[in-house]
Amino acid sequence: MDLTTTYMGLKLKNPIIVGASPLTASFESIQKLEESGAAAVVLHSIFEEQINHETHELDHFLFKGSEDYAEALGYFPEVTLSNLESEHYLDEIKKLKENISIPIIASLNGVSRGGWQEYAKKLESAGVDAIELNITYIPTDIDKDAREIEQLYIDALTVVREHVSIPIAVKMNAFFSAPAQMAKKLTDAGANALVLFDRPVHVDIDLENLNSVQTINPTRSNDLSETLRWSAILYNKLDVSLCASTGVSTHEDILKSMMSGADAVQMVSAILKYGEAHITTVLENLVAWMEEKEYVSIEQMKGSISLHHTSNPAAYERANYMRVLTDYRY
Ligand SMILES: Cc1cc2nc3c(=O)[nH]c(=O)nc-3n(C[C@H](O)[C@H](O)[C@H](O)COP(=O)(O)O)c2cc1C
Repeated sequence: MDLTTTYMGLKLKNPIIVGASPLTASFESIQKLEESGAAAVVLHSIFEEQINHETHELDHFLFKGSEDYAEALGYFPEVTLSNLESEHYLDEIKKLKENISIPIIASLNGVSRGGWQEYAKKLESAGVDAIELNITYIPTDIDKDAREIEQLYIDALTVVREHVSIPIAVKMNAFFSAPAQMAKKLTDAGANALVLFDRPVHVDIDLENLNSVQTINPTRSNDLSETLRWSAILYNKLDVSLCASTGVSTHEDILKSMMSGADAVQMVSAILKYGEAHITTVLENLVAWMEEKEYVSIEQMKGSISLHHTSNPAAYERANYMRVLTDYRY
C-alpha cells in the first residue's frame, strides 16, 4: 500500500504528522513517535517572547497605549523573559537532525513583524526541514478593523519568508470573515502550506475562585467539521499544501481529511490520550480499510470529495445547510 504523500514539498512516508505539543518537546518523546510510525513532527512552539530580539517590535505592538507596562508584563509567564529557551531549541534541533530521519518542522509562535527574522535564519541553519508559524492574536481593540488585523498575519509571514528558503506553513484559525481569501493572501505572501486549523484555548469562569480561566480541552472526531469544510472548499484552488488539524483521532478521520483535499494531517489529542502506539494502530487500520475498498494509494483519494468540481460552492453550501435544517425530524 502506498501511503506516501507530499506536504509543502516534503516527502512523507504516510500522512500522520504529530502537531506542536508536549509530545514534541523532548528528544526521547520524538524518538518514540518516529518508532511508532509518525511521518514528521512539528516541535512545540518557541514563542516570540522567548527570542532575544533587538527591535523590540513585540513590546511596541503589545504594550502601545498600555497604561501600565509593568502590570501588562506581569501577565506573562516567567519563562517568556528568558532567552535560554531559544538557544536550547536550536540545540535540540541539531540533535534531532543527527539522530532522527523523519522531517522536523519548527514552530514559531508570535504576533509581530520583529524578532522573527534572525531566529528564523538560525532555525534554517540548525537544519529544520520547515517552519510552521502560529500567529495567535486576539484583536481586542474595537478601533482596529479586519483588514488591519489580516495585514498583521501577512506582515509576520512576509518577514519570515524574506529570510528563509525552507518551506513555511501557517497554522490558520477558522475565524476570519473570509477564510478563503485569507488563505489566498497567505499563499500569495509565500506560505507553502496551510494548517486547518489551530485550536484556540478555551475560556471559562471558575465559579469557586470567581476568575476567568483558560484551558486546553482535548478534541474528538466531532471537532473535525470545520477542517473538512475548508479543506473541501480550498482543495486545488491555491498552489499550497493543506494539512488537516483539530479532531483527527482515527483512521476514518484521516480518510475523510484526504478525501476533502488535505495532503497530511496533524494529531495531538488522540496521541496524548492513547499514547504513541496509537499511531501504529491508526496506520494499520488505514491500510486495512484501503485494502478492503481496493485503494492502492493515498494520492488516489486526495480531494475526491472536495468541492473542486462544484461550479458554485457557496450555493452548494447554502443548499446543504437549508436541507439539513428543513429535513430534521424529531
Ligand atoms: C497540551 C497542548 C499543547 C499545545 N502546544 C502547542 C504549541 O506549543 N504550539 C502550537 O502551535 N499548538 C499547540 N497545541 C495545539 C496542537 O498543536 C493542535 O493544533 C491542537 O491540539 C488540535 O489538534 P488535535 O485535535 O489533534 O489535538 C497544543 C495542544 C495541546 C493539547
